[in-house]
Amino acid sequence: MTDPHVERYKAALDFAERQVAQLTTNAPDFFPIYTENGRWQHGGELWTDWTGGFLAGMMWQFFRRTQDAQWRGRAEHYSRLLEHRQHDRNVHDLGFIFLNTYRPWFEATGEPHLRDVLIQAGRTLAMRFQPKGEYLSSFIGPQSLFIDIMMNVPLIFYAANETGDEDLRRIATAHCRTTRDRLVRPDGSTAHEGLFDVDSGEFQGESTHQGLAPDSAWARGLAWSLYGYSQVYALTGEKEWLDVAERNADYWLTHLPKDHVPYWDFRADLSQPLPWGPQKDSSAAAIAASGLLDLELQTPALDRAVAYRETALAMLDALVAPEYLAVDTPGWEGILKHGVYHTKKNLGVDESVMWGEFFFVEALTKVVDKEH
Ligand code: GLY
Repeated sequence: MTDPHVERYKAALDFAERQVAQLTTNAPDFFPIYTENGRWQHGGELWTDWTGGFLAGMMWQFFRRTQDAQWRGRAEHYSRLLEHRQHDRNVHDLGFIFLNTYRPWFEATGEPHLRDVLIQAGRTLAMRFQPKGEYLSSFIGPQSLFIDIMMNVPLIFYAANETGDEDLRRIATAHCRTTRDRLVRPDGSTAHEGLFDVDSGEFQGESTHQGLAPDSAWARGLAWSLYGYSQVYALTGEKEWLDVAERNADYWLTHLPKDHVPYWDFRADLSQPLPWGPQKDSSAAAIAASGLLDLELQTPALDRAVAYRETALAMLDALVAPEYLAVDTPGWEGILKHGVYHTKKNLGVDESVMWGEFFFVEALTKVVDKEH
């Protein structure tokens, strides 16, 4: 029997394909991060260059659904433009860049060179390891651990699995433990950043760049943690990581507003004016939806599996409506409206953001694919 969601999701994916095709025509080989007034091309600051894998990754998702040779050609071309990043030591985002591009490419072809790129990128990321504090440091500096890195550390487990390199596995495992013990709270919420004394490795406290406050619950950070620990469980089979993802999911499910799209921070004071008050982050909903669809298949508890799927579909149902999907917004070049990049820096606030686009497409494709 066809899932009633599927026709609407297919229509949203068709729209997503049109928007991405238009971007590649309007601005060939350009990897934007966020829109300004709905336009991808502007002079706004990047903060950090971390999102190339999402545009190319969407092309791989479109190819997965359609088997269209044009998407395959574009996916390979845009992925190849990112290959040099395998040696990039300035960012902590190599998982975002390579797991969404070279991994599907390698899985489609088995070409050894693509595997080599994935392994090298995993080794480069592992060089961020801080031996005293036992974590991979963020791009901010050696004292800084970000929750976002949980979505990148799977690349190191991937490289460890491919090579049998136990040192890579040790580094990745230590990072996951430190993040769980320092950034994931007992109630399942997460801090954005932890600060450490680099010489002693001593933990100095919670901090944030993109959330409301050090002790708040930045919505996207929680989504990164939920999905990241779920991916680590998929790559290791170690139940301790599934437990963390489920703790994150508990917080998500019990704090989501009635319309199923989170505010940018779960502790935002909704009486404050925008952007500090009731600003939504559609990208956080898209990431969590995709993560929950995986957790549904991983959890051994039937009631949890049902709750994860229902919540994921409720979030996607909200996002495919024209309040969020830009389908009825003339001139808007993105797919999803009402995302947020960096509130304090006023970058990409209430705009389309490239990771929101990718995880939305990925989540919809997972649901649509199941019907095949
Ligand atoms: N810094 C990664 C993010 O904006 O989620």
